[in-house]
Amino acid sequence: MSRGRILLAGAGGQLGWELRRTLGALGEVVAMNSATLDLGDAEGVRRRVRDLAPSLIVNSAAYTAVDKAEGDAARARAVNAVAAGVLAEEAARLGAPLVHYSTDYVFDGSGTAPWREDDGCAPLNVYGATKLEGERLIAASGCAHLIFRTSWVYGLRGSNFLLTMRRLMRERDELGIIADQVGAPTWCRDLAEATAQVLARIAVPGGGFDAAAPWGIYHLCNTGETSWHGFAEAIRALDDADVRLLPMPTHDYPTPARRPLNSRLDCGRLERAFGLRLRPWREALELCVENT
Ligand SMILES: NC(=O)c1ccc[n+]([C@@H]2O[C@H](COP(=O)([O-])OP(=O)(O)OC[C@H]3O[C@@H](n4cnc5c(N)ncnc54)[C@H](OP(=O)(O)O)[C@@H]3O)[C@@H](O)[C@H]2O)c1
Repeated sequence: MSRGRILLAGAGGQLGWELRRTLGALGEVVAMNSATLDLGDAEGVRRRVRDLAPSLIVNSAAYTAVDKAEGDAARARAVNAVAAGVLAEEAARLGAPLVHYSTDYVFDGSGTAPWREDDGCAPLNVYGATKLEGERLIAASGCAHLIFRTSWVYGLRGSNFLLTMRRLMRERDELGIIADQVGAPTWCRDLAEATAQVLARIAVPGGGFDAAAPWGIYHLCNTGETSWHGFAEAIRALDDADVRLLPMPTHDYPTPARRPLNSRLDCGRLERAFGLRLRPWREALELCVENT
């Protein structure tokens, strides 16, 4: 098992908070948040990585405010693309792998088939475009990398659909919820645990990771599918909330950023490569809510 130093960027986010715990089994985690490692400062990031000389970099930081990104493209690009590229260049220089996360929003959401890793990307919004650019810079750097594309991430911390719904369900009698965007809600704890399991599988005795491991892009989300409306109904049932949920089409809820209708991700590649499949999304949601 690898016991080197792991640089974790984005440790204050919902996924980062969980990774801090799961990565601890693999090495000494140096957890950085936006105050201690600003991904908006590319040269600062480069210096910090060189100082720390980690044996693994895990980047769960991102500019995730999808609507805000439409009016703040330079900042979103700096964090989601340029900084990811710098982390990858430095990882290549150190011979350390990079684990990074991306999104269903790299796709245009057409059709109904689950997206595979090699399907053509055509993001509909700035967030998706900057995340895709980040993926491409990582691939171009030549570092050993795992990019996990996930969807609809939630947990009990930070800002996410579960927490927003719980608040709104207390405040309102009736809520209109988008019913024609389909994807898989994914519990950040399951993502963090799967990340650690994959890394444990490719760690080599005595330290480091297997250079011949199947590095690359993987789709990773809880299994099954639903709409935001279906997700809200499941939250209402678990919380026994007294609220009417009205299904709404996307075109009745205009937002600055366009969002894909079909966010289904085919996670078969991960299962074939690592024998790993995340639990069904409803089961994950129940477990998450039980932790409240
Ligand atoms: N959330 C979703 O629904 C979703 C869906 C698909 C994919 N993903 C991807 O999954 C990964 C984890 O997302 P998440 O849901 O855990 O996001 P999150 O809770 O929003 O956390 C993102 C973290 O990034 C940090 N960050 C933002 N700007 C930064 C900067 N300039 N320098 C350093 N850190 C910065 C934030 O720190 P501050 O809070 O201090 O700014 C925050 O802690 C990301 O790659 C995201 O793109 C998320």
